[in-house]
Amino acid sequence: MAAGAGDAGLATALIVAAGSGERLRAGGPKALVELAGRPMYEYSLEACRQASKVGQIVIAVPPGKAAAFGTATGAGSGVRIVEGGATRSHSVAAGLALIDSATVVVHDAARPLVTPGLIDEAVTALEAATGLDGVIAAAPVTDTIKRVGKDSRVSETLDRSTLRAVQTPQVFRRAALSAAIAAGDLDNATDDASLVEAAGGAIAIMDSPSFNIKVTVPEDIASAEAILADRDRKDDPESC
Ligand code: CTP
Ligand code: MG
Repeated sequence: MAAGAGDAGLATALIVAAGSGERLRAGGPKALVELAGRPMYEYSLEACRQASKVGQIVIAVPPGKAAAFGTATGAGSGVRIVEGGATRSHSVAAGLALIDSATVVVHDAARPLVTPGLIDEAVTALEAATGLDGVIAAAPVTDTIKRVGKDSRVSETLDRSTLRAVQTPQVFRRAALSAAIAAGDLDNATDDASLVEAAGGAIAIMDSPSFNIKVTVPEDIASAEAILADRDRKDDPESC
């Protein structure tokens, strides 16, 4: 939905795209790396635009790189750009400072396969809940997970049925996320929900489909492009 006067009551999406993408080794910011011919962040931006529960959109970009995000986010696009910080949580804090809607959807530009449906589902789940501060996308863990101590010694095998691999989108009541960010350890947190949990907030997970992968290392590009190609094939009525 386009940003504008009709945004009252809609969530604001905060796309964090300010990372350097060291593990991808692409020689530039990960969000600008092309996936099937388009910069990676454009996929998340498009999904947020199409989500019916989202009004305004903010993107946190690497310092000094705002111009490179220009075409999709220029004047009249309804998208606001902010420079991110030294860690992901600092980038979230920078974006959040521009947001005053009651609900915020935080999403990683590094998860370009997110769909409008997944975003809307998370927002709807939080809206429908009482006593919750956030709803986060998460997937069952398929590997067995062990706790390892000194000298590579296994100290414990965890009960896999109680474990989830956490993803984005993560949807929060903005007041709860703002308070958690103000009080939290922004240098070390690896997701937003953990900050809200640390502040005493209540978070629930929402099962996420397997396609919602994160592009982290070079091999992930081919996996993401394969999922996109599969989607295009299914959308194309000429295909068999
Ligand atoms: N991110 C951010 N600001 C930072 C660090 C990360 O906005 N200072 C964003 C990334 O752009 C990405 C998301 O957080 O969309 C998840 O981070 P990750 O996958 O770790 O991306 P990078 O930090 O860019 O990659 P790396 O850790 O390999 O350098
Ligand atoms: Mg990182």
